Amino acid sequence: MRLDKFLADTGFGTRKEVKKLISQGSISVNGEMAKKPNIHVNPNEDSVTYLDDEIHYQAYYYVMLNKPDGIISATEDREYQTVIDWVALDYEHVDLFPVGRLDIDTTGLLLLTNNGQLAHQLLSPKKDVPKTYHALIDGIVTDEDIKAFSQGLDLGDFITKPAELVIHEIDTETNQSSIAVTIHEGKFHQVKRMFEAVGKTVTVLHRHSMGPLVLDEDLELGEYRELTVDEMEMLKPYGLIDQ
Ligand code: URA
Repeated sequence: MRLDKFLADTGFGTRKEVKKLISQGSISVNGEMAKKPNIHVNPNEDSVTYLDDEIHYQAYYYVMLNKPDGIISATEDREYQTVIDWVALDYEHVDLFPVGRLDIDTTGLLLLTNNGQLAHQLLSPKKDVPKTYHALIDGIVTDEDIKAFSQGLDLGDFITKPAELVIHEIDTETNQSSIAVTIHEGKFHQVKRMFEAVGKTVTVLHRHSMGPLVLDEDLELGEYRELTVDEMEMLKPYGLIDQ
């Protein structure tokens, strides 16, 4: 890849800014001062330094976010803050995007990456990646609901794949149920629509896991971190690439 791209990708500024660094003589490749922005570097073989500090090239980023309420799962938006705006201070130089969408008021696990292949596979209906949500429901969830979810619900435009519904707690005084549900597809407002179909309303929705990836309990709402080596290992069957 070109040296100016290498530097821009590693956070040294825009292409214009990194050209300036090169012309100032601050960048060396394999110990020799780089003179042109278009020279070719191999991130796996060449040593690129800025004022003698080695620059580590990372092609792909994988960020686990505990999405807070009120921001949207998009890369840009005129009205609302997006999940990408949310992490921009740390990842301004990387073209991250969210893997799938959570509603503006849904919280919890959202993976942000710039690896399109991984995103594609995690979202592909063929891969059948289960997603588990914890929710608070207005209404008393029943064994009939569990059965209906397991058989697939007719939502009008499609019939859901069998989903596993588990009741965690029922509060007859407040008429609320706390549940976990695992779905195997990710249609728009799917969990909310499934509960509507059985005459109940989701009041709080939080994603706990997606495939093998489980939300880190230590991440407060709004906090994020890069995936651990173990988590990355678990995502390899879905196209995560060693770098
Ligand atoms: N189902 C929903 O209804 N909303 C979400 O954000 C995710 C799943």
